[in-house]
Amino acid sequence: MNILPSLAAPQAWHGDALAIAVFASPQASNVPSENSVKKALELSEPLKNLDIQVLACTLTDLITESEFTGESGATVSGRVGIDYAIRKVILIGLGDPAKATADVWRKAAASAVKWANKEKVKKLALSFPVYNQDVSLTAKAIAEGALLAAHQDKRFKSKNANPQFLDQVEVLETDPELANPAIAKAQQIVDGVILARELVSAPANIVTPITLAETAVAIANESDYFTVKILEQADCEALNMGAFLGVARASDIPPKFIHLTYSNGTPTRKLAIVGKGLTFDSGGLNLKTGVGSSIELMKTDMGGSAAALGAAKAIAKLQPTDIEVHFIVASCENMVNGSAMRPGDILTASNGKTIEVNNTDAEGRLTLADALVYADKLGVDAIVDLATLTGACVVALGEDIAGMWSIDDAFAEAIAKAAKDAGEKFWRMPLEDPYFDQLKSVVADFKNTGSRAGGAITGALFLKQFVEKTKVWAHLDVAGPVWTERESGYNNAGGTGFAVRTLVNLIIN
Ligand code: BES
Ligand code: MN
Ligand code: ZN
Repeated sequence: MNILPSLAAPQAWHGDALAIAVFASPQASNVPSENSVKKALELSEPLKNLDIQVLACTLTDLITESEFTGESGATVSGRVGIDYAIRKVILIGLGDPAKATADVWRKAAASAVKWANKEKVKKLALSFPVYNQDVSLTAKAIAEGALLAAHQDKRFKSKNANPQFLDQVEVLETDPELANPAIAKAQQIVDGVILARELVSAPANIVTPITLAETAVAIANESDYFTVKILEQADCEALNMGAFLGVARASDIPPKFIHLTYSNGTPTRKLAIVGKGLTFDSGGLNLKTGVGSSIELMKTDMGGSAAALGAAKAIAKLQPTDIEVHFIVASCENMVNGSAMRPGDILTASNGKTIEVNNTDAEGRLTLADALVYADKLGVDAIVDLATLTGACVVALGEDIAGMWSIDDAFAEAIAKAAKDAGEKFWRMPLEDPYFDQLKSVVADFKNTGSRAGGAITGALFLKQFVEKTKVWAHLDVAGPVWTERESGYNNAGGTGFAVRTLVNLIIN
């Protein structure tokens, strides 16, 4: 699918379908009181002219018939008639202009693309207002939304169930000189998001620690700015990574510790991104058996590392200067066999701290412990980890919002800003130190789990034990948003590629 900006006005365009995005008119967005009916949308002068001149008044009819008000997410579509330059139209609501964010444009472009494919449209044009008076930002948001919506993962289908019809999306009244570089950038970012989606969606018999390591090597091989180091089990043993290796022990697939480094120019900032990379989490001997423990979804337990690798892939193309970024993944499976770690076993992490494993299903934090110690030794300015760490975080924030914990307010702000521009939701949670008492152990330095209540917070407090030197650290619990069962906005069912765009923004700004 091609996205091309064009200076053409909708009046002059012909093709299969035109998608027009409109703000809600002020009177339409008023809350209807008991005796006032919600007023349908009033078209702007240029759109009225377009409607009369080329659309046989289809827009007016659609608006009146459906009482379309232009609310965000609302759409109404119809056929123009025979022998017209444009066969079909869709109106897409952008909602209240005062509440506009780039994500509203992403989602509007996504709904245009999804509609066009359902309607078997090959050539689509978009007539969208400019977001924030910024043509580049508008084109970037539109391209991201369109490309993400168009991505369909058919790798594991034997036949092509829903073929794609759309092959061209023209963005009208848009200066190609400003828009083309923005669209190219969007494509590079989307390629990273798609990598993350596909890594998450692939089952655990396809994506293993070996696959993740190969993915990192492939990213490094394609770029002059990346180097990669894969630490094998023996290397991890030499580094005394007892916590990580304790988890890996019961798997027939070898663990891989991935260290991918991006460097371009003399760095003024150094960042480490640590991703949880459990390619399958059975729970171990604390096997995931209960209703709702979702063992069948535990192929997604490498969502944090998928986001890290997706961001790396995008950064390889975007090539920011003066920043050094370390992507670190301690990847393995959490399985069961005769050498599985037992509940009650004591593991020693690479910083010497001893951990009583009171629950083998709290394995992510054990792998991250050694990954964080490793990152902590690199002398970076900041570390951010991403992990599908706890079901408790999903209970707290639902499936669409990730939890954020940070020991540094400015870093929390920077992540919040990066996430807002990306259209990804994070909610800051407390590092409530007194809760660490729950992890007190009779025999070891601490245990790996506390009570069910506040389980996402004790998870974060556990990780904090392994960041000793680095003064800036944040933990992102992405257990909810990395996967979705139903399509919505620019996401399709399956892996969402969540956090790739936030990480890219964090690296670039
Ligand atoms: N991978 C899970 C967390 C998870 C749950 C991710 C649901 C995605 C969806 C993690 O390893 C885990 O099992 N956490 C336990 C922690 C508990 C034993 C303290 C949990 O959330 O139940
Ligand atoms: Mn687990
Ligand atoms: Zn897990």
